[in-house]
Amino acid sequence: MASARKVALVTGAGVRVGAAVARHLAAHGYRVVAHYRSHRPRGFAAALRADLAAPDGPDALARAFRAAGFTRLDLLVNGAAGFDERPLEATDAAAWDAQLDLNARAPLLLTRALLPLLRRARGSVVNVVDVGGGLVAWRGFAAYCASKAALARLTECLALELAPAVRVNGVAPGTVLWPERYPAARRRELEARIPLGRAGTPGDVAAAVRFLAEAPYVTGALLPVDGGRHLSGRGGG
Ligand SMILES: NC(=O)c1ccc[n+]([C@@H]2O[C@H](COP(=O)([O-])OP(=O)(O)OC[C@H]3O[C@@H](n4cnc5c(N)ncnc54)[C@H](OP(=O)(O)O)[C@@H]3O)[C@@H](O)[C@H]2O)c1
Repeated sequence: MASARKVALVTGAGVRVGAAVARHLAAHGYRVVAHYRSHRPRGFAAALRADLAAPDGPDALARAFRAAGFTRLDLLVNGAAGFDERPLEATDAAAWDAQLDLNARAPLLLTRALLPLLRRARGSVVNVVDVGGGLVAWRGFAAYCASKAALARLTECLALELAPAVRVNGVAPGTVLWPERYPAARRRELEARIPLGRAGTPGDVAAAVRFLAEAPYVTGALLPVDGGRHLSGRGGG
């Protein structure tokens, strides 16, 4: 007999923020299907591998989801992304495409591929955007910011197009986990620009994702989870 528990598919669930979101949802009663590319998550209802930057990657993931026996989808969290700091002079067509393909095209194609299951469950989508690009411009991240800006507007477009059956929202985290080898001086400089005076945690993002997933009258929202950083001017990641 099919389980009555809600099912969530989280992309990029093998590491860092995505892993925290997946664990949080599982701890709050969801059956979590954890997507990964290279870091296989353990301990979830299923773990499915796909390269979402490939044109057919999102469709392949949706097929694998159905093949694993899931007949409902209550929540899709589009968390997988690339984070590429790159000056304009070094931003060629391949660098641009890499950011847009994974960060913006993949969420669109995956939502499209899973739409019948989302509709059936009257489910929702939460896109993991970023303050950078999603809410403010950053110097030195043109392609990344453009990809996250695209994801923010895509969130609104799909919220309109898929209502009333499916809600679509986004979270816009500030720094909740530093990139590896991020210089200490740069951390201090950045923290000084956060109104709440500190970086956040992946748990802050996970709680916001669950809030949006369970807020029945909220669609098309982009929720900053950034200690107020979007209010304090521009800068870099
Ligand atoms: N960290 C922060 O403070 C912060 C701030 C703002 C926004 N965000 C957003 O939060 C999300 C997660 O951030 P993070 O820092 O945890 O990211 P991360 O450490 O850079 O991890 C990237 C994730 O994307 C997956 N991924 C990369 N390339 C992929 C591909 N071609 N196909 C499928 N999956 C792929 C990775 O999977 P594998 O490891 O399995 O390869 C991994 O799970 C992203 O959307 C990011 O933009 C993070």
